[in-house]
Amino acid sequence: MKPMFAILLALSLSGFSTLAAAATPEQEQALWQRYFQARFPDVPWEEFPNGAYAIDPIGRENWEAIEEFPPYETAISEGEALWNTPFADGKGYADCFPDGPAIMNQYPRWDRARGMVVTLPLAINECRKVHGEKPLKYKKGPIASLLAYIGYESRGQIIDVKIPKDDPRALAAYEKGKQFYFARRGQLNFSCAHCHVLYAGYVLRTETLSPALGHTTHFPVYRSKWGEMGTLHRRYIGCNKQVRAKPFKPQSEEYRNLEYFMTYMNNGLPLNAPGARK
Ligand code: HEC
Repeated sequence: MKPMFAILLALSLSGFSTLAAAATPEQEQALWQRYFQARFPDVPWEEFPNGAYAIDPIGRENWEAIEEFPPYETAISEGEALWNTPFADGKGYADCFPDGPAIMNQYPRWDRARGMVVTLPLAINECRKVHGEKPLKYKKGPIASLLAYIGYESRGQIIDVKIPKDDPRALAAYEKGKQFYFARRGQLNFSCAHCHVLYAGYVLRTETLSPALGHTTHFPVYRSKWGEMGTLHRRYIGCNKQVRAKPFKPQSEEYRNLEYFMTYMNNGLPLNAPGARK
């Protein structure tokens, strides 16, 4: 049995055993989404993007107070200014992204020509490179501001990641991301799935563990612990370190494949970036 199903079935809730033979990404996605909905029957579908605040009433109260004066607002305006500032060659982001800034649901995507997953931050830096600009650092700073602006403009878009059937390398990238998600690592020997699938809803030290469903909808986030904005891959690094595992580089192939898997599992959820988190 594939590890994903071992874990989901270990917890199996009514009706799940019939899906044990699931084999395609579509079936896995359906199983995944039903698992979380069965696990948190009181959480409406469109609430999953709110992470722990969809399931922890006290955390939610604090968060709603924070959202009244969103700490990510500065990042949105900085991002808008960056988007509209021409590069040294007179061109700008709009030349690379002709659909404008509301493009978050076009990523991550499978790039057939290069046989790799392209994330939005990667596409931003590739745009800069084409126009002779230095790449931005991937964890925080200007890239987080640009993503905050793009995310804000994309709010409400529905996630719709595609795994083209006629390119087996796309399926392989998804499978690698999935393996990463279910692989035990670090001194604690925990996989992502241990905390965000198996123990979702439990409290670890002072934090309620958020369900994996919804995990990619709201990045970048302003995190109080960071005191600033950070990207999704910054969060991956934090979660790898949490179990004392060696993190990968942001935008490494490992993390891009992971993002591909995780975002695909979120298909159908609305985007609500940027976010605010404890
Ligand atoms: C030891 C438990 C643990 C493991 C293992 C773990 N995380 Fe986390 N993760 C946390 C905690 C605690 C938080 C902060 C509270 C929350 O939102 O769940 C968090 C938060 C997150 C968030 C942000 C959630 C949000 O709503 O903003 C993402 C995304 C995430 N983790 C992904 C991962 C990925 C991917 C892995 C595997 C590489 C992983 N985590 C492994 C404990 C863990």
